[in-house]
Amino acid sequence: MKILVTGSNGQLGSELKSRVKEFKSWKFVFTDVEELDITSAEAIETYIKKKGPFNYLVNCAAYTAVDKAEDEFEKASLLNAYAPGYLAKACKNHDIKLIHISTDYVFEGKNHTPYTENDETSPNSVYGKTKLNGELQVLMNNSESIVLRTSWLYSRFGHNFVKVMQKIGSERNKISVVFDQIGTPTHAYDLADIILTIISQTEEKKSNWKSGIYHFSNEGVCSWYDFAIEIMKLWNIDCDVEPITSDMYPQKAPRPFYSVMNKAKIKQNYSIKISHWKDALLKYKNLTE
Ligand SMILES: NC(=O)c1ccc[n+]([C@@H]2O[C@H](COP(=O)([O-])OP(=O)(O)OC[C@H]3O[C@@H](n4cnc5c(N)ncnc54)[C@H](OP(=O)(O)O)[C@@H]3O)[C@@H](O)[C@H]2O)c1
Repeated sequence: MKILVTGSNGQLGSELKSRVKEFKSWKFVFTDVEELDITSAEAIETYIKKKGPFNYLVNCAAYTAVDKAEDEFEKASLLNAYAPGYLAKACKNHDIKLIHISTDYVFEGKNHTPYTENDETSPNSVYGKTKLNGELQVLMNNSESIVLRTSWLYSRFGHNFVKVMQKIGSERNKISVVFDQIGTPTHAYDLADIILTIISQTEEKKSNWKSGIYHFSNEGVCSWYDFAIEIMKLWNIDCDVEPITSDMYPQKAPRPFYSVMNKAKIKQNYSIKISHWKDALLKYKNLTE
């Protein structure tokens, strides 16, 4: 059983790498842009022919610089929209099951109750638009794929909100964080876990592979302000956190004000238990100590 992982030097890919030893009978092939540039359909085809056959492909590669994307539509589109389409096509040709990752930023954020997979998408940023196009490209080229939307991702590997808060919290006495953007943080360790669960449950019984879009984050709801408060508390950082509104912290890319996702579908189809975001943050802390 062989699994190809693309974009594997990022947060999610690195979490997957850290779990390999738990799956001794599976062979993982980890690639990043140097080994396999997913923006080239030809390179994907050549790589699969040379290093395959593969049973699964997990695409962790993405253009994730949300604000920068506002000025780099073409570049973000190539990686977030066209490349996933190339992967999906190759997976269809070579009978590979594709798991592609998307985002809560496909939603506009006007809901007051958690978004389901059937809710209307209407991204308000270039990043969100390119990720939504990526979902469409994947499902259009290979309807047997799984698209996993996640939100507010952090990991011990790479750059993220937890690390930024730890850094600026220990440099300053007071920081301001927005309290009018509501969502759910996701520990990339737990996202890696659900990906491995989907694969392992499919290996047990092929009919457990149920294609389509799924929502996955940790449990619970918070604002970035609440998230920052919890980080200061857990790491004993003596820094005042002041709640501010988004208009007091202008960012190039508009964010959804509410992007909590309903996870009923994934819990039902894959019988999983998801940690609360505060427990997941504590797990992150334990992993980094
Ligand atoms: N981060 C979040 O808060 C968040 C929230 C919701 C959803 N997501 C989604 O979750 C997934 C994983 O995100 P992440 O935070 O783990 O991403 P990440 O840390 O930015 O990792 C992406 C990886 O893809 C690589 N890459 C760039 N161009 C490539 C190419 N042409 N071919 C192959 N690999 C390439 C990057 O390399 P370089 O670093 O060298 O460019 C990087 O190693 C993405 O689909 C993202 O959209 C993320």
